[in-house]
Amino acid sequence: MSYSFNEKRIVLTGASSGIGEALACQLAAEGARLVLAARTVDKLEQVAQRCKEAGTAALAVPTDVSQEDQCNELVSIAVDQLGGLDGIILNAGISMWARFDEVTDSSIFRQLMAVNYFGALYCLRAALPHLKETRGRIAAMSSAAGKTGAPLHSGYAASKHALTGLLESLRTELVGSGIRITLLYPEFVRTGIRLHGFQGDGSHPASDPFDDSAGMSAEETARIALRAIRKGKREELFIPLMKIGNLARPFIPGVIDSIARKKVGLA
Ligand SMILES: NC(=O)c1ccc[n+]([C@@H]2O[C@H](COP(=O)([O-])OP(=O)(O)OC[C@H]3O[C@@H](n4cnc5c(N)ncnc54)[C@H](OP(=O)(O)O)[C@@H]3O)[C@@H](O)[C@H]2O)c1
Repeated sequence: MSYSFNEKRIVLTGASSGIGEALACQLAAEGARLVLAARTVDKLEQVAQRCKEAGTAALAVPTDVSQEDQCNELVSIAVDQLGGLDGIILNAGISMWARFDEVTDSSIFRQLMAVNYFGALYCLRAALPHLKETRGRIAAMSSAAGKTGAPLHSGYAASKHALTGLLESLRTELVGSGIRITLLYPEFVRTGIRLHGFQGDGSHPASDPFDDSAGMSAEETARIALRAIRKGKREELFIPLMKIGNLARPFIPGVIDSIARKKVGLA
């Protein structure tokens, strides 16, 4: 029988905007019971309200995933409120847009790891015992930058590669547990991520440094992500170019590097 999110008890991080918001709305439409996490309380509450209007339970739990105690509290509230946990989607993330050799504030590398890697790790550690009980699902929002080198994204790519290493390793330990782990690798998606991301001096850009009009919508990204999680796929590469590039990289690594450079406007 095919997997359905109906009545599934799911924790979703990074639910206040972008892909996370789209995931929350689509999960709600499918009848999932949601605990939603992010830092921006009013936006998170608005997303929870939209989910409730779709007829499902949705609780907003303000959380900074870079803080381990807050991740523990998030999962504890979810288990108390929902009576258990069937899945977790580790989607919270921040990005950057700067050459490595032009970064003047090296703290951005720590902050990227704190949210994209440790934020996922802390939530996962807290949720895992509960997911073992239900043979649940784990999904993590990586990025094309988690598969290959990504110019102007060195710290971001490092954090997403770390996330892949963590979850690919965990999967090998969980053989026989019934838990499925899905790694999601979108390419450019039309969200505010670059506006919330770091420049080399640690500030945020006043305007989007990238024309992402050719990127995928958050809604389409969420649809593809949920289909992959439903199927229990090990990974999802969101666009044909990534699928081809992934196969071709061992044979033509230089070509793949120059495609990555062109994507962000470097010669
Ligand atoms: N957009 C793209 O091109 C793209 C491509 C590939 C992968 N991704 C990945 O997709 C995921 C979602 O990004 P998006 O594009 O939807 O960007 P977004 O609109 O900026 O959303 C990021 C989400 O993460 C949350 N977040 C950030 N820092 C957090 C923290 N410390 N604690 C808790 N939540 C935090 C944000 O909420 P608050 O600010 O309210 O905390 C927001 O809900 C990220 O993991 C990103 O790396 C994005």
